[in-house]
Amino acid sequence: MGILFSQEHKVFQITTQNTEYCIGIADDRYIGHIYYGKRLDDLRCGYLMRTKEPPFVPSANRRDKGPFMDVFPFEYPTWGVGDYRESCLKVRTDKGACGCELHYVDHRITEGKPKLPGLPATFEGPGAGKGQTLEIFCRDSVIGLKVVLRYSVFADSDALIRSVSLENESQSPLHIEKVLSACLDMDGEGMERLTLNGSWCRERRMERSPIAHGKQAVSSLRGESSHQEHPFLAVMEPGANQDQGQVYAMNFVYSGNFLAQTEKSQFDSLRVVMGIHPEGFEWVLDPGESFTAPEVVCVYSDQGLGRMSLIFHDLYRNHLIRSPYLHQKRPVLINNWEATYFDFDSDKLLAIAREAKKSGIEMLVMDDGWFGRRNNDNCSLGDWTVNEEKLKGGLKALVDQVRAEGLLFGIWFEPEMISPDSDLYRSHPDWAIKLPGREATLSRNQYVLDLSRPEVVDYAYESVAAILRSADISYVKWDMNRQLSDMGSSYLDGARQGELFHRYVLGVYQLQERLLEEFPKLLLENCSGGGARFDPGMLYYSPQIWCSDDMDPIERLAIQEGTALIYPLSTMGAHVCDCPNHTTGRTTPFTTRAHVAMAGTFGYELDITKISQSDRDKIPGQISQYHKYQPLVREGDYYRIASWRENHQYDCWQVVSKDKGEALVTYVQVLSQPNYRSRKICLKGLDPDRDYRLEIEDTQEFKERAKAKEFDGICRLTQPDGQVYSGRLLMQGGFLIQRLHEDFSSVLLHFIGQ
Ligand code: GLA
Repeated sequence: MGILFSQEHKVFQITTQNTEYCIGIADDRYIGHIYYGKRLDDLRCGYLMRTKEPPFVPSANRRDKGPFMDVFPFEYPTWGVGDYRESCLKVRTDKGACGCELHYVDHRITEGKPKLPGLPATFEGPGAGKGQTLEIFCRDSVIGLKVVLRYSVFADSDALIRSVSLENESQSPLHIEKVLSACLDMDGEGMERLTLNGSWCRERRMERSPIAHGKQAVSSLRGESSHQEHPFLAVMEPGANQDQGQVYAMNFVYSGNFLAQTEKSQFDSLRVVMGIHPEGFEWVLDPGESFTAPEVVCVYSDQGLGRMSLIFHDLYRNHLIRSPYLHQKRPVLINNWEATYFDFDSDKLLAIAREAKKSGIEMLVMDDGWFGRRNNDNCSLGDWTVNEEKLKGGLKALVDQVRAEGLLFGIWFEPEMISPDSDLYRSHPDWAIKLPGREATLSRNQYVLDLSRPEVVDYAYESVAAILRSADISYVKWDMNRQLSDMGSSYLDGARQGELFHRYVLGVYQLQERLLEEFPKLLLENCSGGGARFDPGMLYYSPQIWCSDDMDPIERLAIQEGTALIYPLSTMGAHVCDCPNHTTGRTTPFTTRAHVAMAGTFGYELDITKISQSDRDKIPGQISQYHKYQPLVREGDYYRIASWRENHQYDCWQVVSKDKGEALVTYVQVLSQPNYRSRKICLKGLDPDRDYRLEIEDTQEFKERAKAKEFDGICRLTQPDGQVYSGRLLMQGGFLIQRLHEDFSSVLLHFIGQ
């Protein structure tokens, strides 16, 4: 890993173990993209910017500056001076002049990785995780704007981290209308794109499509990263798949509005940009002030999506997630939301806690409905006082009883919101985000608090902190159940209304930072109506995020596949639900529900006092499986083997320990087919020269069910428990999975290195 500048070639070379990113300075001023890909180790690469081809060098041929601007592969393109492709920066002076041209001034290469003010950001890791940073300083001297383009790499990662800062060096305010964080101007003929799209209960489904001429974007203008589209974009070779082919990916370390876009130009070059969505954004930069745009993580893989995922997972585990729980077992929890919804009191919760304890569950999480008069979702957000009609004797009494039963206690909050029917709204109607003279749009009967207003941030913080100080609480589920609209703040002045979206996100970050400072041992799980704010920004504050309100294990296959494309399994909040599932109405085996939830942070969300005895009897076994496998799932390398999304029949993934000493394969047969042969799956990431002994989980259960004639022939695994295979055989020859008898059935295969 290293960053160097060649004065002779005017080339910056940023290398990681396997990749290289090269930037050039053309015509002594323009900063251009030369190359991103596998290592070249050759500084004579500047010709790839094509500056010798017409339309010439602008300083020598001013007549044709326009055609130059419109074709040069800018590292950071600006608006208004002849580049008609998507820009990253648009600045308006106080006099209304719009246009900006950046010239190289200087650069600095430093050890380490700077923090970004008020923003989540990757950091140096321990041991081999040392970082290095290149800052390229450029300036538009006409408007007095200094821009810093920042590139960081870490010794143990193939990712490249980019961010941008602006500084107003002029005497008057500058109006930033657009400031994206990264641009990749590349030769992209024939490339395809991969994005993640969805909706509530259908988050992060992978979608691949050709890249056409013109612009194709995914974005959010919802004030959060959203259920609908995801701040991720990959550009890939058409033949690229899990295991081979070139992939260029970007992921935005931010939790608000974003734009991620490809643009194929008239010359078939490709410009990929990512950053805060310019719509609804404007930032007034007063003289002497700076603005820093959030980070973009860039990953290049020449070994398909599988390698890309490994790079993201390791980067986020080693350089983004700060929680002490990152490398710790998370308690197995039981959450009462789908068990009781709003209809609960201490007695009901204690009954659940007692039964849960008998099965080995370790924490009770009390969800929405414990405060104010909240017996449904039309009131009380903002009134964070305990409802003592429900929690008799108060919160502390309940927590103490739950703790006495031997369980930890967790609690739900939605601190960013305000119900119109709340004491808070009655006393502070101006604390809600709304436009003057217009009734704000309701969503789930609620408004959003104006987190640009410091006293609102203080109020929201104190509401949560006071509760946490009042009892022995180990875990917080921090929810956010509506998207932003009616963007008006009675706090910000007229010229700064365009800052509200971003100031809101900064407010959320500030709140969570304060929380972690005061309660460093707290396990924080973020959530947003399921998984609408599952992004790297939130992972800086919480080691896990609720993946989706859809816990149906079959729906979860696609949701978790899309999520695990970028994020480590240890970050995915996943629970075993009741059946029929509340969102799909589907009934699935209890074991399959557990196998799918075990791919994330494991828990239950059902009324354990009401489920069948036979399901309840399975819980202790599931929990001991979770204990057995969670270090592997949390720390291991994830491989996608097959996708139900593509084959419409079965899903299969694998986790291998870093030392290749063990592997866990989860196989889910979605629909049972009659009369077919065994299915061959080829394992990945094993040591070819090592032997692995097979241990089939749940064989006892299969045997018992067969004996009870619950089904014929059971999972007729030809390979018996205890069989030994070489890693090479399992990877090249494959493993044969016999027909599982039922729809939605699953099996866990544990391979133990000998
Ligand atoms: C959101 C969450 C759910 C639950 C409810 C409570 O939808 O995703 O898990 O907490 O809010 O209102």
